[in-house]
Amino acid sequence: MAIRHVRTIGDDILYKKCKPVKAMTPRLAQLIEDMFETMYTNYGVGLAAPQVGILKQIVVIDVDDDDVPDEERNQYVFINPEILESRGSSTAYEGCLSVPGKSGKVTRPEWVKVKAQDENMEEFIMEAEGMLARAICHECDHLEGELYVDRVEGELKDTSELTEEDMN
Ligand code: NI
Repeated sequence: MAIRHVRTIGDDILYKKCKPVKAMTPRLAQLIEDMFETMYTNYGVGLAAPQVGILKQIVVIDVDDDDVPDEERNQYVFINPEILESRGSSTAYEGCLSVPGKSGKVTRPEWVKVKAQDENMEEFIMEAEGMLARAICHECDHLEGELYVDRVEGELKDTSELTEEDMN
């Protein structure tokens, strides 16, 4: 496992569309492991391959609280994800490892149904709500070369300036 360098806002690669993954390879399996490690090291809840410089449709997500034991964590890998349906809307602050130290209010669907392949290239369909739905939408945007900062309502704030009220 290795921690990869996270590309930050302004880096051209973050604005490019990612290519679908056709087959799992040892190299991509390693990438997925590294993406989890890179995400946890940086206290993120999601990471998309372009954020570590790879233009492939791969996303990892884990929105569980820090104190959940390893064996109970819900670690999601979405390869070639596609949002099939979405419902409702929810507005909350979100951040991104590619935009360090910043947060902004974004409206996302409250519920999504997503189709993807897992790390064994097995297709699955899942439904998600709340923070997990938000993370899926945020990471799928990365695969399209889009950053949340372009969806922010109001100002992009310094995360350190957010109040307790902002977080709820
Ligand atoms: Ni992000």
